[in-house]
Amino acid sequence: MSWERLYRILQPETSGTIARIFRAAHHVMVATGIAIMLADTVKPWRQGHHRVLDIGFQIACGFFFAEYMCRFVAAPGAPGAYTREWRARLAWALSAGGIFDLFGALPGVLDIIFNPKYASLYGFIWVFKPVRYAPGLASLQRVISRARHALLSVLLGFGIVLLAAASIAYLLERDAQPELFGSIPLALWWAIVTLTTTGYGDVTPITPLGRILAGFVMVSGILVFALWAGILATGYAEELRRREFLRTWDLVAKVPFFNNVGASVIADVARLLRARDYPARAAIMRRGEPGDCMYFIASGEVEVRLRPGVVRLGAGEFFGEIALLTGEPRNATVVAAQPCTLLTLDIVDFRQLLGRQPDLARVVSEEAARRLQVRPAGGQSSWAPVERT
Ligand code: CMP
Repeated sequence: MSWERLYRILQPETSGTIARIFRAAHHVMVATGIAIMLADTVKPWRQGHHRVLDIGFQIACGFFFAEYMCRFVAAPGAPGAYTREWRARLAWALSAGGIFDLFGALPGVLDIIFNPKYASLYGFIWVFKPVRYAPGLASLQRVISRARHALLSVLLGFGIVLLAAASIAYLLERDAQPELFGSIPLALWWAIVTLTTTGYGDVTPITPLGRILAGFVMVSGILVFALWAGILATGYAEELRRREFLRTWDLVAKVPFFNNVGASVIADVARLLRARDYPARAAIMRRGEPGDCMYFIASGEVEVRLRPGVVRLGAGEFFGEIALLTGEPRNATVVAAQPCTLLTLDIVDFRQLLGRQPDLARVVSEEAARRLQVRPAGGQSSWAPVERT
């Protein structure tokens, strides 16, 4: 097997059967390893089933050790890897992913070399193994990194309130409760438990002013966490918008209809379009419905069911514009002829976009007029079967 093939099998996004089997085995091993680690700390279970637990632990260790070795030898197969195999492997071993996997293989190595009594405790490291398979965590990392200045400012505010609360509590409570508030470091414990709204209740102020202070500190704690949550939620929303924009941009750039327009028009359009996937035979719109958006076909084919006849539209073509231009209900039913990805343009954005992009407006209106003029042979109906437009 070539390094490239082995490398691809080990990647989380690869869709082949072997890659899927590997991923399933990996997740089963992580779950088994962690379950064994937990069970090992329960004395009766350990005593009753130590052989099974040991064998299970060794299987999990062997798997993660083998995974490390496979990733190590497959490193030259990565796109853009060093041409010299040893350099590619060294670069991988020293990369974040390599070090991460080394930790995953560590319980096994420790078990084989030293065979310590509580080797299975190192199995907690495997909790981190699924991180590679969770793209959401990568998003979280990006969100935190982008919002770090705002988060750090709130953290600084947290620190200021914490120290101020501990100092004031020390001044107010030191005589009443010297064993609990006799120094600022002692008072810090109360301040952090109160500011984080944990409230163990092991240390509480008893002077009236101390209690008023406690009230302020609790409210400040709620505010700090509300700010953190708000910053993270906004960051997530932006991250999602950015991802959606990139996907739409990619799709718009591939639609032949937009080939001749400049990058600024594509950016303008991509901001407004939303990508949607439809399975084969899904009804996208029905005749007689009010029109609230139009569609560009990014990939796949749709069937426009006219009366009489059927027209097929493929990648790069659009539909649903007539209802938006005329204000009339949809004049045909449109069904996905095969799985397709469509870019939808909302009616409000449609009007604004056509106002800003006269060339686009002309193309859409001319095509709508052409479609409206098409007459069936014999003139019995206002709609005709036409060849692919
Ligand atoms: P609308 O009336 O909003 O909804 C149905 C859509 O089918 C219509 O807009 C057009 O985009 C499309 N359509 C109607 N007639 C034809 C045709 N002759 N050829 C291709 N598409 C059509």
